[in-house]
Amino acid sequence: MAAALKIGFASPNLEKSGLEKAGALIVFLGDDLELTASARKILGTAAAATIKRAVEVEKFKGKERASLVIPAPQGLEIGRLVIVGIGSSKEQEQTDYVRLGGVIAGLLGSTTVASVLLMGPAKWRVDADAASDIALGMRLRHYRFDKYKSKKRDDGNAAKSESPVSVTIHVEDPAAAKRAIRARDAVAEGVVLARDLVNEPPNVLDPVEFAKRAKELSQLGVEITILDEKQLSKIGMRALLGVGQGSEKESRVVIMRWNGAKAKKGAKAQPIAFIGKGVSFDTGGISIKPAQGMEDMKGDMAGAACVVGLMHALAARKAKVNAIGAIGLVENMPDGNAQRPGDIVTSLSGQTIEIINTDAEGRLVLGDVLWYVKETYKPGFMIDLATLTGAILIALGQEHAGLFSNDDTLAERLSAAGKATGETVWRMPLGVSYDKQIDSKFADMKNTGGRNGGSITAAQFLKRFVGDVPWVHLDIAGTAMSSPETEINKSWASGWGVRLLDRLVADYYEDRD
Ligand code: BES
Ligand code: MN
Ligand code: ZN
Repeated sequence: MAAALKIGFASPNLEKSGLEKAGALIVFLGDDLELTASARKILGTAAAATIKRAVEVEKFKGKERASLVIPAPQGLEIGRLVIVGIGSSKEQEQTDYVRLGGVIAGLLGSTTVASVLLMGPAKWRVDADAASDIALGMRLRHYRFDKYKSKKRDDGNAAKSESPVSVTIHVEDPAAAKRAIRARDAVAEGVVLARDLVNEPPNVLDPVEFAKRAKELSQLGVEITILDEKQLSKIGMRALLGVGQGSEKESRVVIMRWNGAKAKKGAKAQPIAFIGKGVSFDTGGISIKPAQGMEDMKGDMAGAACVVGLMHALAARKAKVNAIGAIGLVENMPDGNAQRPGDIVTSLSGQTIEIINTDAEGRLVLGDVLWYVKETYKPGFMIDLATLTGAILIALGQEHAGLFSNDDTLAERLSAAGKATGETVWRMPLGVSYDKQIDSKFADMKNTGGRNGGSITAAQFLKRFVGDVPWVHLDIAGTAMSSPETEINKSWASGWGVRLLDRLVADYYEDRD
């Protein structure tokens, strides 16, 4: 585990000695390079002069996210002054405080006690939301997955120091920041949970263990139902079971229910539903994948991990919404009992599927879970997340997840939530001619549509299992894992989607007081 990170809030004391002892003090400067009058007062003339000189000598221009670390002058009980740029007044109006928090956490180095002086020019938000967004960014950046490193020190590749880090953010209204941080902490925990699940090795996190981890959400008041193979077979999820039949590990479906909406007279509020692909390891099955990079397929359960992380976030912040999380958990392995190309399976929907390629397994899992959720819970919408196709990496790289939808409103809301969180989506087309590509000679459909438009034909396949329910499919093969490092993520797993979907729910689907 990464060392603990403690974040507190305090009001900036305008008396001179108002800053506590700290290894580092973070101060912000716009491109005018002016300290505000109150920041100057708190820092005192010596520190203000030191900053001015350092800025000149180092030619620091106050560019957004640029930084300068200098020793603090004598007389202050502070080790280093960390100056962080916040750019032009235009840029200051749209500062991404989460990202800024990540930048700050990255500048702490070996510092274990730090203070952030959240003061800046007029256009810069220095309110409780900004303070708690900074805290969220610091938490996300601080994350490390090092539980399998036996050496914790003395090795460049081993985990860094285990000393806890303590950060105080000085903001005008610390009480408001303390209230605002609760929801952010819930979301941060959700992202960390999703990252942990994706980073876990596949010998540890098989479908049964995954279901067990999801069950822990019951501590937050989430109702959990775990369906085992016997029950799944009785229900008729044969498409899903076919994927898992070549594995020693049993398959599972987990349903998570969070009922946070205010009880209304008469019928309960219609739930919204999130569905995740949870292939704990994808060898490809009999259509086996090449060895190169196959280890990455431990992350083929990132959709399910996101759904669990999201349900955690919603429950931990007591979101006023009724939400269903449903995940299909299987391992795709080749053995004597494994599914073959040429097999025809009957899905829960009654539609038959000819298996062309056993490596196109995610859609088989999701088809059954989508149908089950639609029939059982009559949700207001369904959003599925899946590391579904390599083709989405070819189309969109790792910058956007692919979004496919039968509903413009839902698609637009997700786009907006994507822009707000930085977890961006790009809408891809659907259409009858793509749908034709998956018609089969022998069954109602086949599970691959050929090389052309591979992500789209995969989405067309899912569309055959959602009926008239407003639906979005997010192909997260490019964004969930092995993505480029960012200011708020240094880990292989990104936890992509938790912040996006939490934001969607918060902005559009919660009861208002
Ligand atoms: N899990 C893979 C998709 C994937 C690829 C995820 C790379 C993350 C990174 C999926 O099950 C798969 O194998 N898809 C095939 C589909 C094909 C056989 C139609 C693919 O993309 O090649
Ligand atoms: Mn596959
Ligand atoms: Zn897969």
